[in-house]
Amino acid sequence: MHGTLHIEGGAPLSGSIAVNGAKNQALKVMAAALLSEEPCVVTNMPKIEDVERMSAILTALGVSVTRDGDSMTINPAGLSTGVLPEKEVNRIRASVMLVGPLLARTGDVTFPNPGGCQIGRRPIDMFLDGFRALGATIHDLGTGQRLTAKKLCGTTIVFPRVSVQTTEAMMITATRARATTTLKNAAMEPEITALAAYLNDHGAKISGAGTPTITIEGVEKLSAGPITLIPDRVEAGTFAILGALSGGSLSITNAEPAHLENIWIHLKQAGVNFAVDGSTIHVMPSPTIKAVSMTTHEYPGFITDLQAPYTLLMTQAKGQCIIHETIFDGRLFYTDLLNSMGANIIMCDPHRVVVNGPTPLHGRYLTSPDLRAGMALVLAGLIADGTTTIDNAYQIDRGYADIVERLQRLGARITRADAS
Ligand code: EPU
Repeated sequence: MHGTLHIEGGAPLSGSIAVNGAKNQALKVMAAALLSEEPCVVTNMPKIEDVERMSAILTALGVSVTRDGDSMTINPAGLSTGVLPEKEVNRIRASVMLVGPLLARTGDVTFPNPGGCQIGRRPIDMFLDGFRALGATIHDLGTGQRLTAKKLCGTTIVFPRVSVQTTEAMMITATRARATTTLKNAAMEPEITALAAYLNDHGAKISGAGTPTITIEGVEKLSAGPITLIPDRVEAGTFAILGALSGGSLSITNAEPAHLENIWIHLKQAGVNFAVDGSTIHVMPSPTIKAVSMTTHEYPGFITDLQAPYTLLMTQAKGQCIIHETIFDGRLFYTDLLNSMGANIIMCDPHRVVVNGPTPLHGRYLTSPDLRAGMALVLAGLIADGTTTIDNAYQIDRGYADIVERLQRLGARITRADAS
């Protein structure tokens, strides 16, 4: 179904593109919906593959999931098992977010060990340590884990490193514990703050979300209701970088610019001509783009999910810079693909590359390695001369809805050939 993308580079881009709801909030809200027995109605729900995968898992658990336009209703009343389906779970790491709510609801959860992934090792040691601290007994099944808990207790968890999903998993699980839990060295991403606000509206007692220390007073019962997802900051940042690369005038609407402050600083230093106006970002042609080094960091630092598009932008910037990826240990290997298009990127080690620019890019046949690098390749194809073909479009569809149609509306010459 997902097939291959064909791009004729060099078409001038202009116009307006709206940002969808945040993928990395959607997936967590879908998991948190299982904490209650009441229906949850999510609006601004993006039509992306990761949401489809998560819906399939919920359905396999006996949960009803229905969609109407950009709205999704999740009714967990029929939840009937704590055994996560292996095939679907293997395709989406965020499925680990379901473990805590299932433990709270059923007391017995089985799930397969997650595999490795293109962006590096993705262990679950901190999740297991956290669930154990909250009172779960862990049975290592070899190919997976079974967690059992008659009741969840309150505890203090000091995370050895900052992790987004571990913070979220412990926060939502602790809402159903019998006492108070404190999370220290917690992640501070806006999606976490928004998730806590929704749960608090429905009976949870969470304080400190958005800071490094989160306190959760466990409650007996949670209700549920409507929630509108916050704008996807990775989409907004991706489109802003596309604007800078294309040299046209793009307006990115329905965004939350306050969630991207670190990106704005870098783009400003690089000489990108843009203006923020409420929820819209206007990107105008920039006389020159200058090389500016960048280090990824947990929020409010430069988000790792925009590292690949930013690195691509630096291939078109004048000068030399270093990109330092600190979060994942395999998230720079796509730079080889940019080199095959004409970029001059030297890998120092798996965490650092030196980018020398500007270099013209030429169309190539490429395979999308993962979601964010795949999207950077789409952007590269749009500014390259000649034709770029990107295989494994599924990776891009995981996080960007209707990407072909949305880019076509800006003037891009991009089409999709479905896999037979
Ligand atoms: N880590 C461990 N042990 C664990 C958990 C994590 O060592 O038990 C390590 C990871 O391997 C990584 C680091 O901790 O090196 C930080 O990763 P984190 O746990 O924060 O990543 P995540 O929560 O699995 C989320 C997003 C990612 C985003 C990262 C960092 C979701 C579904 N995913 O992943 O999004 O890159 O936070 O901000 O929320 C994407 O959207 O393309 C994507 C990969």
